Amino acid sequence: MNGFSAEWLALREPHDLRARNAAVLDAVVAALAGQPSVNIVDLACGTGSNVRALSPRIGARQNWRLVDNDLSLLARVPPPSSPQVTIKTVPVDLNHDLEAALDGPLDLVTTSALLDLVSGEWLQRFAVEAAARRLPVYAALTYDGRVEITPADAADDAVIAAVNAHQRTDKGFGPALGPAAAQAAVERFERVGYAIVAGASDWMFGPQDRYIQLETLSGWAAAAREVGAMPLADVIGWLTRRRELVAAGLSSIRVGHRDVFAGPTGTR
Ligand SMILES: C[S@@+](CC[C@H](N)C(=O)[O-])C[C@H]1O[C@@H](n2cnc3c(N)ncnc32)[C@H](O)[C@@H]1O
Repeated sequence: MNGFSAEWLALREPHDLRARNAAVLDAVVAALAGQPSVNIVDLACGTGSNVRALSPRIGARQNWRLVDNDLSLLARVPPPSSPQVTIKTVPVDLNHDLEAALDGPLDLVTTSALLDLVSGEWLQRFAVEAAARRLPVYAALTYDGRVEITPADAADDAVIAAVNAHQRTDKGFGPALGPAAAQAAVERFERVGYAIVAGASDWMFGPQDRYIQLETLSGWAAAAREVGAMPLADVIGWLTRRRELVAAGLSSIRVGHRDVFAGPTGTR
């Protein structure tokens, strides 16, 4: 299961839904209030989790354009569950064609679990292009580098440091912002005159959430192995101990994320 596979996206979606920051969601909904019909583009949509999270909260008729560069994910976007929602999927490589994705009449840009993958340069381009079109932006579930695992293991800090180093490697947009992305988004959008509502949207995996814990831990071990900053035997030992705790129903994991809503103001 890799970070963009349909299986991984389906596994994380209910946890994402629980984690989404309520105040940030309220701000998104309030920004669209009073419009009979809205046009929304979802950047790096995967299989459309933003539609499922947001559309039941919006009273208006909604036309969603879902863009991603992965055709197999776009093909898995289910039809809308409400007659007042339309969905159009469009293949776009956002590194090359961000501007095209933002064109056309739009009332909102959404994205989730994308900003930690992008470079500072791409984020700046996104803020400038959104501001040029005066588009509100809802960016959910950006990983922010905070991880708490209980009970603690002596190798946790080394593994998480390696994971966070891996997060900063190139994910197709140049060197990724990784854990710095959410704060960078706040700063970039403030600089182009936007008002920000931001808050935590941490994943909270309890002892019963065994499968997603195992997948998360395996992904972290693979990242630590790739970074190569700690001996492979230490990574394997760590993963083995952590898997035993999950199997015994003794493990909990909190993974830090931030949600950001950036709305254009009249100041620029
Ligand atoms: C972590 S997934 C998040 C998917 C979805 N937003 C969600 O929250 O379930 C990241 C998404 O970014 C997409 N992606 C990565 N690089 C891209 C690019 N250059 N252009 C368009 N989409 C891209 C992947 O295909 C994947 O769907």
